[in-house]
Amino acid sequence: MLLYEQLATQLRTQITQGALRAGERLPSIRQLARSHDVSIATAVQACLQLEREGLAQARPRSGYFVRAAAPLPPEARPSRRRTPGNVSNPMLQDVLDMLARSDLLPLHSATPSPALLPQAALTASLSRCLRHAPTAALDYAPPQGHLALRRQIAQRYAQVGVTVSPDEIVITAGAMEAISIALRTLTQPGDVVLVEAPTYHGILQAVAALKLKVLEVPNLPDRGIDVARLEQLLQQNKVRAAVLVPNFNNPLGSLTDDAAKQALLKSCARHKTVVIEDDIYGELAWSGQRPSPLRRWDKHGSVITCGSFSKILAPGLRVGWMVGGDWTEALLRTKYFSTVGSASLPQLALADYLQRHDLQRHLRQLCRALADNAQRMHQAIAHNWPKSTRACTPQGGLSLWLQLPGVNTQRLFELALREGIGTSPGMLFSSRGDYGDCLRLSCGLPWNDKLDHALRQLGQLASHC
Ligand SMILES: Cc1ncc(COP(=O)(O)O)c(C=O)c1O
Repeated sequence: MLLYEQLATQLRTQITQGALRAGERLPSIRQLARSHDVSIATAVQACLQLEREGLAQARPRSGYFVRAAAPLPPEARPSRRRTPGNVSNPMLQDVLDMLARSDLLPLHSATPSPALLPQAALTASLSRCLRHAPTAALDYAPPQGHLALRRQIAQRYAQVGVTVSPDEIVITAGAMEAISIALRTLTQPGDVVLVEAPTYHGILQAVAALKLKVLEVPNLPDRGIDVARLEQLLQQNKVRAAVLVPNFNNPLGSLTDDAAKQALLKSCARHKTVVIEDDIYGELAWSGQRPSPLRRWDKHGSVITCGSFSKILAPGLRVGWMVGGDWTEALLRTKYFSTVGSASLPQLALADYLQRHDLQRHLRQLCRALADNAQRMHQAIAHNWPKSTRACTPQGGLSLWLQLPGVNTQRLFELALREGIGTSPGMLFSSRGDYGDCLRLSCGLPWNDKLDHALRQLGQLASHC
């Protein structure tokens, strides 16, 4: 047996016999090398081996941790909407009611807690802009958005090898407005659009409000968008646009890999379907490796990429964008007749923040905290929830998607509300109210006793639903 295998075997025994428990940190690489008298490379290899076996998990800059006993992933359910139909899900109204409440423990809200965001630095940027440039801050912004911010956004794309010109970026009020403007620009009532199943309820609401018909392509917990099915659907139907979240789909947290992304783009280009790419979670890769947006491979001008600062800096500033490519002029016209321009002060403040601070550093800290929260939540669920609970193990984003076979999660949602706990029942993520035994929880809340207690309570409530 090679040296690294011997070390891996010792560590494996400690894990399986309970000496090292789920969530605990393995000794550091240096400690392992010293205590077992092996080289650093051998210690690294041993940890990589445990990672491959699913027993340990690396967290950037923190070391290796023992993984919680991996729960079974939720079943991938084939989408049932094979022919175009209307969005018909009365539960969508309940989200609006819930978002208006500020008294809940916000496990329903896919946003990082304010404690994980650079509030002081952003406040300083807002004050600085008001002090030094009050006229620009209080005047109309250019309809396309302030150039200083568009430049900063273009630079972020350049850092991941995607060439974007500031001239093709249009600033919006969050990604939600970007998606809505793109849909309004591309479609007429009655047109068919493709969405993922499951998908973010805001996308379903936009589609319903514009009286569009939907087709659903499955998104699978372990591999993201089902590209073979997408090709079939495009062959059988005339689909004007596809609203897709390939990087850390909400609610699954699933990732569509690069090969599938390229195949998907080819299909859409062949069938003249414009992709509205919602890349709002692309920066939240817990491994630190940001996955590429679809735009990287777009050779035919078939992608409009939407992004936002909501999930990484401040949802309340309401600043997002779209990268319009050939569609930029048309998108700008649609934006102009609805909002003229976006609020000036938040744009200037974000440009100021991005110029002065290392966003990458903040993202590393944020992603580490999210991965940590998700890990602890998994453990709490494994200990306190019905044994049949299945859970996704996402690699990024803000959501934890659970399946509770036999449990009515709408009932669970209502009971939890009475206890002051917000949750998102699975039905919200389907155009027709499917996923009645699924639940989405946010992993954006830092771990503390209150959260621990709330998860225990939810587990007990789930046993009675
Ligand atoms: C997939 C997805 N797209 C868009 C949005 C809306 O984002 P914004 O606050 O930028 O409008 C959300 C918010 O949860 C989301 O999850």
